Amino acid sequence: MKFQQTEVLLKNNDIITIQICDIEDAEELLRTVKTYLADSEYIPVRPEEFTISIEKEKLRIRSFLENDNSLLLIAKKGNEILGNIDITGSQKEAIKHTAVIGMGMLKEYRNKGLGTALLRKGIEWARQNPVLEILWLQVYAENTAGVTLYRNAGFEINGIQKKFFKSKENIYFDNVIMSLDVR
Ligand SMILES: CC(C)(COP(=O)(O)OP(=O)(O)OC[C@H]1O[C@@H](n2cnc3c(N)ncnc32)[C@H](O)[C@@H]1OP(=O)(O)O)[C@@H](O)C(=O)NCCC(=O)NCCS
Repeated sequence: MKFQQTEVLLKNNDIITIQICDIEDAEELLRTVKTYLADSEYIPVRPEEFTISIEKEKLRIRSFLENDNSLLLIAKKGNEILGNIDITGSQKEAIKHTAVIGMGMLKEYRNKGLGTALLRKGIEWARQNPVLEILWLQVYAENTAGVTLYRNAGFEINGIQKKFFKSKENIYFDNVIMSLDVR
């Protein structure tokens, strides 16, 4: 299903473009994700674990382009990728109507409405998608920006897994599972 590229005005008056991630964006996207992982307390991937090659990233992007129930959007300012949202539809028949969301952005662009814009565009696309019925996600309970963002978009809490995440310092965090009906 197609996605119409769109421009969005952020709270700091920056105009950014939200568009489908193409194969040629692989290197820049990897750079952006690597940068924001290092600045994100609440993503369970340590920077040193993020070792994906450009070739593998190209294959991953290709799978988003080819799978009808999946979408990978990037937010760009000029040539710089500021952040992304992945909507990964399951390829298993029994759960093909579900897709899991992951998202993130560079620290200097947080709390300016970019997450809200990316999520809104992703949800609009999912509502038009004939296969998808449920969007879901996992978020650290302490991730106030994330939980607020998802709640504002209509996501409901399905359950909480206690002590699901563990930091380098052996501090535990609960995992909040949320979902949105997009039928
Ligand atoms: C979580 C994340 C995607 C949110 O995107 P964002 O662009 O910062 O969020 P927005 O500016 O659109 O704000 C969303 C809402 O959360 C609120 N919010 C944002 N940051 C907040 C904070 N630190 N504390 C409390 N509320 C916050 C905003 O006020 C806004 O609510 P409002 O629309 O009612 O005013 C982004 O901060 C991020 O990439 N964080 C690091 C990676 C990450 O945690 N990814 C999510 C994994 S589940």
